[in-house]
Amino acid sequence: MKNIRNFCIIAHIDHGKSTLADRLLGFTGAVTQREEQAQLLDNMDLERERGITIKSHAIQMNYHYEGEDYILNLIDTPGHVDFSYEVSRSIAACEGALLIVDAAQSIQAQTISNLYLALENELEIIPVLNKVDLPSANPEEVTDDIVDLLDCDPEDVIHASGKTGFGVENILKAIIEKIPAPQGNPEAPLKALIFDSVYNSYRGIETYFRIIDGSIKKGEKIKFMATGKDYFADEVGTLNLRQSPKKEIKTGDVGYLITGIKTASEVKVGDTITSLVNPTAERIDGFENVKPMVYAGIYPVDTEDYEELRASMEKLQLNDASLVFQPESSAALGFGFRCGFLGMLHMEIIQERLEREFDMTVITTVPNVSYHAFTKKQPDQIIMVNNPTDLPDPSSMDRVEEPYIRASIITKSDFVGQVMSLCIEKRGEIVNQTYLTTERVELIFDMPLAEIVFDFYDRLKTVSKGYASFDYHPTGMRPSKLVKVDILLNGSSVDALSALIHADNAHHIGKKMCEKLKELIPRQQFDIPIQAAIGAKIISRETTKALRKDVTAKCYGGDISRKRKLLEKQKKGKKRMRQVGNVEIPQEAFMAVLKLN
Ligand code: GTP
Repeated sequence: MKNIRNFCIIAHIDHGKSTLADRLLGFTGAVTQREEQAQLLDNMDLERERGITIKSHAIQMNYHYEGEDYILNLIDTPGHVDFSYEVSRSIAACEGALLIVDAAQSIQAQTISNLYLALENELEIIPVLNKVDLPSANPEEVTDDIVDLLDCDPEDVIHASGKTGFGVENILKAIIEKIPAPQGNPEAPLKALIFDSVYNSYRGIETYFRIIDGSIKKGEKIKFMATGKDYFADEVGTLNLRQSPKKEIKTGDVGYLITGIKTASEVKVGDTITSLVNPTAERIDGFENVKPMVYAGIYPVDTEDYEELRASMEKLQLNDASLVFQPESSAALGFGFRCGFLGMLHMEIIQERLEREFDMTVITTVPNVSYHAFTKKQPDQIIMVNNPTDLPDPSSMDRVEEPYIRASIITKSDFVGQVMSLCIEKRGEIVNQTYLTTERVELIFDMPLAEIVFDFYDRLKTVSKGYASFDYHPTGMRPSKLVKVDILLNGSSVDALSALIHADNAHHIGKKMCEKLKELIPRQQFDIPIQAAIGAKIISRETTKALRKDVTAKCYGGDISRKRKLLEKQKKGKKRMRQVGNVEIPQEAFMAVLKLN
């Protein structure tokens, strides 16, 4: 146990976490050069393309240092706010963290939020100034920023480059010398923290855990404390490049477990594994059931594909327990599903996975957060509003509450004014403003989550010319004024275009939605009136004008076989369009409300 070190790498996105991790693996001989090229820790295709570590994993390295053999367990953490609960559990499985800061970018919002998480878990922090090879690097200044943030000595900051490999040996030395060995009682009943799980279509769910007390043996009967279910430990092992099965994993170590579980929802990150016959008295603190933050409808482009979509969603859920869905129907779109996601990125990932892995073309409707509504009749009973149609009629409604977040934004002092105006426009209330240096400011705002979902990231980037980073955590529900804005096309309401909007913004947004839809809805042989309404009251109107005759002739004329070919080609490419009544609505129209500026 005294020669084990468990650590993670925390950093703002793109500060070089994966590159540096690969260097550590390469240096300790855990990977050969060729394997190294394929950035090992991110092993889903999609992840690699987006450059975001979505699912946390772990890997074991062996390192010989000053006459001793050490086991270094690197626990990877996801880099996006949508997955912050997973980050917190990965951190809880470690004794130390490398805090990586890009020498050109300096400290950003996630540097700080991850650091706080690490400090809450009493991790030893090893600061690393990364990318020192960059011509734009600012090593002195950024070192000063780190020293201010951590209250450490400048000599403690390790200069490194994941690109050239510079500094890697110093990092390994610091990991061994500074990070404490795990503690825990090898004789006590088994207590292990689940910090991740991965779906394997042949072997079922692989559970990744860190042992706090006791040990876990192959063939033993174990129990998951939060779910209350018990299993056989069919296989346990350590995570090298490939899994190495072992007879036993002991206190302080990190490993994987295979029990034949087929569904991801049985394995909950943050849960405690114990022995069935000799259970531990208390489970590990900090377990939470992750809750979806954003809801949207997902519908097949072809109504006949509904069953296929259901099967695909079920398969996706097997390996992504944070995806929730239930059937819903829409007058406009037919049968589909209301899905809950951890955030907007998670939503995009699911949509892309449906297309790539299952060859499903889907329409996603306007996302909304989850509101709580209360009726006059039963003012104590929460009605969950995950869908605009769930909102009770205004006449029977007592009140509505909406989820709030606390946001941290770090920007240059030049942009403070613009960033503040944006946050205030988004119904934010300023909580604090701190100058980290003369140039850089941290702003803390309380804001409605709904406003973050609606184009906040893009606006923030624009107003700060890219010099702003952003992070948040949920802080609970607050009273809200909410209305349902409906959209009528050609006189009939299209339920899938309805959106829940704060009453103060409803007129403005209704007008913008009509303008945007006018741009997006293709012209046809007749005029298409586009109206926004609150209840029976029309608040805005636009018209998509009919195509002129001669234009139609050019588009649709020509010989019939050519036209058929074209049609078939179109069908194959499955354009994301839905015919609603006699109007064709493209996918972008369903998202129009998110992109009004
Ligand atoms: P996420 O997984 O998205 O959080 O990013 P990350 O922090 O893992 O960053 P990643 O390792 O993917 O690196 C981000 C970008 O920086 C890539 O284009 C790397 O090639 C580049 N990069 C990483 N380390 C260095 C370095 O030391 N020097 C230079 N010049 N570029 C680097």
